[in-house]
Amino acid sequence: MLKLQDLHAYYGKSHVLHGVSFGVQPGEIVALLGRNGSGRSTTAKAIMGLVHAEGGLHWKGQDILRRKAYEIAHLGIGYVPENREIFPKLTVHQNLLLGQKGKAAVKSSRWSFDDMYAMFPRLKERQHNEAGVLSGGEQQMLTLCRTLMGDPDLIIIDEPTEGLAPKIVELVGEYLKRLKDRGVSVLLIEQKLTIAMQISDRALVMGHGSIVFDGTPDGLRADAATRKEWLEV
Ligand SMILES: Nc1ncnc2c1ncn2[C@@H]1O[C@H](COP(=O)(O)OP(=O)(O)OP(=O)(O)O)[C@@H](O)[C@H]1O
Ligand SMILES: [Mg+2]
Repeated sequence: MLKLQDLHAYYGKSHVLHGVSFGVQPGEIVALLGRNGSGRSTTAKAIMGLVHAEGGLHWKGQDILRRKAYEIAHLGIGYVPENREIFPKLTVHQNLLLGQKGKAAVKSSRWSFDDMYAMFPRLKERQHNEAGVLSGGEQQMLTLCRTLMGDPDLIIIDEPTEGLAPKIVELVGEYLKRLKDRGVSVLLIEQKLTIAMQISDRALVMGHGSIVFDGTPDGLRADAATRKEWLEV
């Protein structure tokens, strides 16, 4: 469904992705793992048209290389960046409203406000509060929910568990599995192996802007050399 072929990305003259190739199939959870600076966020930005990229980038058979981020979102790819992007002066509910894509799309959406509030009761309690007063973890959940309100077929989530307590990390894992249950594919950018290994169908490891491993979580568990060279600190 999503296909990267020999994708390169640049920040000005700095060449950061060196020929990245992988795919994400419908309903699949794919973990994109790697150390700090390995190029995981840049991969997400390249898919979303937020950095200069060259190479093959296809979504549902369409060439989306260098399309604008909002067009890519409209084609069904949701993106939750590593820095939470909420509107602090708007209420939680208004933030969720902004994630919706227009009347017709709302009608056919997999997700309703009630779904979001059922998944995250904290957001329901806070629905009339300014989003800026939420805790970091709550803001992260709000960003995820706002993206889901746009009913993406694939959601790219950049380090959703960063800075969260272990209990909450487990919850995030549960939520991501629920997305899969509703047919949403997930590209999960992570550094923590535990959650990624528990919920993913496939694991990718990045090192120095290339994919150095593409296989199953079990395969990665068994591959001590790859883990030692590219993951462990
Ligand atoms: N805006 C930018 N301008 C120039 N170089 C950048 C920029 N953003 C990232 N880089 C460089 O690109 C490389 C990959 O960064 P990227 O953010 O993709 O890493 P990452 O795997 O997401 O790691 P982490 O999020 O843990 O920092 C790094 O060497 C980084 O210094
Ligand atoms: Mg990153």
